[in-house]
Amino acid sequence: MAPKSFWIGGPVVVVAAALTPPLQADPVGKDLFDAHCADCHGLSATGDGPKAASIDGGVPNLTTLATRNGGTFPTIDVMSYIDGYTRENSYANMPAFGEQLLDAPTVLYDAGDGIPTPTPEPLVQVAEYLISIQN
Ligand code: HEC
Repeated sequence: MAPKSFWIGGPVVVVAAALTPPLQADPVGKDLFDAHCADCHGLSATGDGPKAASIDGGVPNLTTLATRNGGTFPTIDVMSYIDGYTRENSYANMPAFGEQLLDAPTVLYDAGDGIPTPTPEPLVQVAEYLISIQN
């Protein structure tokens, strides 16, 4: 059975990928989040992942980023945190994802400053996913 479903599934996946515009990528963003972030931040992104209890200071709720920033999602800050670009020493318990993102394809993305900037596509997808789950 396994080889049969491989041959049926393969072309379908390729066609779906070709038809999916890069920025309508919430499902991809959710997959990336579930794979790389949910251990700590939780599948619901509220900071209740399985590793959260063992992290000093706990893990922040990522569904309240906009609320905690006066109602505006701090896109540039969030992306910088995730890729480690502006990580400060106080920000010690979360791994930086910059290395994994270096080899990723880039897309032009306006993170809110009006300047479309080449940005690693997975970083955009994760940020767009976080924007979509704000409370
Ligand atoms: C090993 C656990 C861990 C993983 C994995 C992890 N984080 Fe975090 N994250 C944290 C902790 C802990 C903090 C709080 C700051 C600190 O102590 O590093 C944080 C902070 C953040 C913040 C800043 C929140 C705020 O309130 O300002 C964002 C945004 C964030 N993480 C997004 C992500 C994303 C997206 C991923 C996956 C790509 C991810 N994190 C993976 C533990 C983790």
